[in-house]
Amino acid sequence: MLSFLFSPNSMTTVIIILAAVIGLIIGFGVSGKRSISVTTLTSPGNIGQRGILGCTFEPDIQMGSIAIRWAKAGVAGLVHEFRGGKDHLQEQDASFQGRTAVFADQVIGGNASLELRDVQLSDAGTYRCSVTTARGSGVAVLRYRTGAFSTPRVHVENSSGGDMLQCEAPRWFPRPAVHWTAYSDAGGYLPHVANTSYKLNAENITLKVVSFLHNVTANATYTCVIENNIAKATGNIKVTDVSITRGTNLQLVNLNAESVSSSLPACHWVLLLPLYLLSI
Ligand SMILES: *[C@@H]1O[C@H](CO)[C@@H](O)[C@H](O)[C@H]1NC(C)=O
Ligand SMILES: *[C@@H]1O[C@H](CO)[C@@H](O)[C@H](O)[C@H]1NC(C)=O
Ligand SMILES: *[C@@H]1O[C@H](CO)[C@@H](O)[C@H](O)[C@H]1NC(C)=O
Ligand SMILES: *[C@@H]1O[C@H](CO)[C@@H](O)[C@H](O)[C@H]1NC(C)=O
Ligand SMILES: *[C@@H]1O[C@H](CO)[C@@H](O)[C@H](O)[C@H]1NC(C)=O
Ligand SMILES: *[C@@H]1O[C@H](CO)[C@@H](O)[C@H](O)[C@H]1NC(C)=O
Repeated sequence: MLSFLFSPNSMTTVIIILAAVIGLIIGFGVSGKRSISVTTLTSPGNIGQRGILGCTFEPDIQMGSIAIRWAKAGVAGLVHEFRGGKDHLQEQDASFQGRTAVFADQVIGGNASLELRDVQLSDAGTYRCSVTTARGSGVAVLRYRTGAFSTPRVHVENSSGGDMLQCEAPRWFPRPAVHWTAYSDAGGYLPHVANTSYKLNAENITLKVVSFLHNVTANATYTCVIENNIAKATGNIKVTDVSITRGTNLQLVNLNAESVSSSLPACHWVLLLPLYLLSI
């Protein structure tokens, strides 16, 4: 029987049958209907916050015929099910109870994204977004990564040993790398010495990051860069004799090139800036 299977002729037959079966699956979907395109889009989840597992499909004007099912590899129950215009959570796994939602008013436009509240580290994994409409059905998979990231605040720290900058970010996980860049207004690179410490937060997972930069001079721009495998955040501070201008940016490191950024520019006019004393 085995030798029969491996003979060249029947091998060809097997390949043809396999190709036909695969063709059927691709062409008509598992439910026997035609397939529709379903696409996922992922951005990392921030522990304790709200996350979105992105999924879109070819829209269908018949809301009643749209069924969306989210499942996670290794989890017995479903993550979320939405059909006939409403949630069906009887088969939902206990670990997702009370934390999920689809954007019901956007489903008609082809948005099958899942909102996940209070993201846990353990929510990382492989998810399947399956969508069935009157036109057919389709499935797409996404890998969800979780961790913690936050924008840093940079400010001038007044100390006896000369002025220094403090860069502080409340929540990071995994432990990020921190480095600074320092450029004078003339564009020259400035040598600098920093020390960074990490402190475990009360929930025993995320770390508070504090980095000090010593020997700060006026008329220069300093940038604190905090980075791990899921996010990169920067805090800028431009120091002159009479003013300090700040900016921050948070970028999510992502395979799908989706990014979220926020800018919080602030301008502080400080009259008796301690840095003034440094300009000797
Ligand atoms: C779906 O809709 C939600 C809510 O408006 C939005 O945040 C999300 O980006 C949308 N997802 C996609 C993939 O368009
Ligand atoms: C900086 O320190 C000096 C002396 O230690 C103090 O007089 C001054 O008010 C401080 N400035 C700020 C902005 O904290
Ligand atoms: C970093 O430097 C500051 C100022 O010199 C000091 O107070 C702090 O203890 C240092 N932190 C570490 C982790 O060395
Ligand atoms: C965090 O860890 C400490 C020491 O290991 C323990 O005493 C504390 O209960 C833990 N806290 C949480 C929220 O798990
Ligand atoms: C700051 O600069 C002074 C003078 O150049 C130097 O003696 C001191 O070691 C520097 N401090 C640090 C922390 O690099
Ligand atoms: C910073 O720039 C201002 C104006 O360009 C200048 O007056 C001041 O002396 C400079 N300070 C230092 C420490 O270079």
